[in-house]
Amino acid sequence: MAQRLPLYATAARGTEDLLAAELTALGIGKVRQDRGGVRFFANPIEALRACLWTRIAMRVLYPLSEATVHGAEGLYEAAADVPWEEHLTAESTFAVDATLKDSEHRHSGFVALKVKDAIADRLRAKLGARPDVDSRHPAVRVVAHLAGEALSLSLDLCGEPLYRRGYRAVPTVAPLKETLAAAVLAAAGYVGEEPLFDPMCGSGTLLIEGAFIATRRAPGMSRHFGVEGWPHLGAQAKEILADLKADARKLKRPAPFPITGLDRDEDAVAAARKNIETAGLAPSISLEPGDALTAPPPPAPGLLVTNPPYGDRMKAGGQKGMKAFYFKLGEHLATYAGWRMAVVSGNTAFESAFHARPLSRRKLWNGPIECELLGYPARPG
Ligand SMILES: C[S@@+](CC[C@H](N)C(=O)[O-])C[C@H]1O[C@@H](n2cnc3c(N)ncnc32)[C@H](O)[C@@H]1O
Repeated sequence: MAQRLPLYATAARGTEDLLAAELTALGIGKVRQDRGGVRFFANPIEALRACLWTRIAMRVLYPLSEATVHGAEGLYEAAADVPWEEHLTAESTFAVDATLKDSEHRHSGFVALKVKDAIADRLRAKLGARPDVDSRHPAVRVVAHLAGEALSLSLDLCGEPLYRRGYRAVPTVAPLKETLAAAVLAAAGYVGEEPLFDPMCGSGTLLIEGAFIATRRAPGMSRHFGVEGWPHLGAQAKEILADLKADARKLKRPAPFPITGLDRDEDAVAAARKNIETAGLAPSISLEPGDALTAPPPPAPGLLVTNPPYGDRMKAGGQKGMKAFYFKLGEHLATYAGWRMAVVSGNTAFESAFHARPLSRRKLWNGPIECELLGYPARPG
């Protein structure tokens, strides 16, 4: 591997600047923000430190080629031009994940298949044998992204996407992605040195990500990374990661301030408890069932961060009901002196119904849903 690799970390739209700032804080020198991610250069230690510590990136990719392609033939030829023999052996396994945007092809599976065929044929020609495909646990995961006619082919350093932190024990309705929750906390300026409160915590994602920050835990601490299985680099990556994890273990501390949550749905509270336990954060977070419209504030000052229900736009009377809910929420939270607030809302009716003046706003995407993160200053009291 060259000493400094060009890498590309992907992030939810609207959070790229937060990821660029995070990578810079992790000691990465040259970062360049792009739409949907951040380009940077890193040596193997820096790259693996970024994989282990990033809270905001969804994937870290090593781009191998970019080409303009037409039709199925074009896909095959562009993929066959890449020197895969530098990254794979006949004995290693591989898989191809494809994503499409505004492409002439309708099925990502078709694009993945063409790229896979090209890789297999090239390796058979170069090495006399081809590696097997293992779509679940490949040694090398290839990522193909086709935007219009621009095909980019990369290797994925992480394997499983980074938002799969491994603590989501129970499925719940409309959870925030872990990486987006971490981006929201970063945008709100949360560094773990003040109380944190989510009065509509659902599965607990914001609280868990907050507790990771407060306890200085590396989010990748208990996972493996795809690069550990790469035939030419795996052994070196394992050694580097073992050292980085040992250093990370020394930084852990108990949460210095209370992290608390409520939800009026007892099933959500039970799911959040299970997730918190799975994440090993039971001593850092306290939860109870409760109503955000009447709950008294925890002792101030602190950061209230929350992601209220968006409501069902299709349901008769749904929007009217949501406006009334946001209005009551605004009335009640106006009594929370000393709490600054960060609210992720996916309902355009929220801001006016909440009737407080935000100090900051940012658009971000919760998957396909366009949301707004509104920041409110603490009220004196
Ligand atoms: C969009 S979900 C929050 C998802 C959460 N951020 C997560 O990652 O899982 C909204 C949550 O608000 C809760 N909720 C709705 N009305 C509430 C109220 N009056 N008091 C407390 N919780 C409420 C719902 O039960 C639901 O869990």
